[in-house]
Amino acid sequence: MAEQILIVDDDVDSLKLIGLMLQRQGYEIVTANNGQQALVRANAEQPDLIILDLMMPDMDGYEVCRRLRHDPATQSIPIIMFTAKIQVDDKVAGFEAGADDYLTKPTHPAELASRVKAVLARSAAQRRPEGDQSLIMGFLGAKGGVGTTTLAINVAAALTSNEPTIITDFRLGQGTLSLSLGFGRAAGMANLLTRPINELSARSVENELAMHSSGLKLLLSSARPKESMLNVSPEAAAAILQHLRTLSRNVVVDLGMGLSRLTIRLLQEIDHLTLAVEPNRVALTVAHDILEEVVQAKFDRDRVNIVLINRAQSSLQIPWQEAEHILGKEITAIISPAPELAFQAAEAGQPIVLFQPTSIVANQFSKLAEEIMEHRGA
Ligand SMILES: Nc1ncnc2c1ncn2[C@@H]1O[C@H](COP(=O)(O)OP(=O)(O)OP(=O)(O)O)[C@@H](O)[C@H]1O
Ligand SMILES: [Mg+2]
Repeated sequence: MAEQILIVDDDVDSLKLIGLMLQRQGYEIVTANNGQQALVRANAEQPDLIILDLMMPDMDGYEVCRRLRHDPATQSIPIIMFTAKIQVDDKVAGFEAGADDYLTKPTHPAELASRVKAVLARSAAQRRPEGDQSLIMGFLGAKGGVGTTTLAINVAAALTSNEPTIITDFRLGQGTLSLSLGFGRAAGMANLLTRPINELSARSVENELAMHSSGLKLLLSSARPKESMLNVSPEAAAAILQHLRTLSRNVVVDLGMGLSRLTIRLLQEIDHLTLAVEPNRVALTVAHDILEEVVQAKFDRDRVNIVLINRAQSSLQIPWQEAEHILGKEITAIISPAPELAFQAAEAGQPIVLFQPTSIVANQFSKLAEEIMEHRGA
């Protein structure tokens, strides 16, 4: 998938020239020819990198840079200042405004290419802090009620036995995760999302965590319908995930069913996605379309697992091969029917992997957890 670069320059020739050079390197290019347009584009496109000319009428590059850094939606996009100004003072001002690198005009295509590559690599490394092997795992249902929450809970519980793990639920007002683990109407997530985004910190997030007897930590939404009326900012939700990453090695995210603007934004923070589906043509077709959309949102297809959940014993299921054909991707795992066990475990407020560790499904959940772990650092 091509990384996207936003080039900002008031000089159209310069825009074309750099654009062409980078396009040849395989990058996808978006352009803006003034500061205001740059801010709008950066917000809308969420590029992987911005190359910013300094001297522009109206709003100069320093100001654009400061505003990009001030806006939570754009603050982590790397910026290379690109300019004919070559004084040391200018460079210092550029770095103070928040630039990641500085490049002087005219530049050799090879130098431009190597700087771009270096900044992109650094920013990717920053998103995964050094030595940090944290993994944020998303769980998404192709449809409602396929067993996504049960899957997320059990993978999280399987992981907790080895490593600190947090499970979180972004579905305000539909907090069945909370109820299935015996936490009633816990509302940590709503408490955070009703605050101004600049009040979100690792500590404020940590303060809202609940603790399950298994050692699993939880950031929960409640099932109170009132919560679902809250207007959730995708940026605030993304910030919460970033803080959770600093609080635990593993973070499991219940994304509920289907795609939304919120889910698409969260995918930028998520390292691995499990798509839960049931073995019928409707769900499989929906899953296929979700997968396409997810890949369009620049999420790597190889970081998606598909899990088939068989909630009912039935001879009327679509054959495996046909299921994979509809999906256009191989199925990673299958979860067997365990209606009684699922019921009893939920009544006891326990994950199945702890409630009945030797059961077939508990084994399947644990094996899936191990498989997902293989994506760490990948
Ligand atoms: N392998 C299974 N076999 C039988 N029943 C299951 C299995 N997994 C989950 N269930 C049951 O299916 C029901 C739905 O499960 P769950 O709440 O996990 O689904 P969901 O996809 O998260 O639903 P929602 O769309 O409401 O979020 C629950 O009653 C759960 O106990
Ligand atoms: Mg659910």
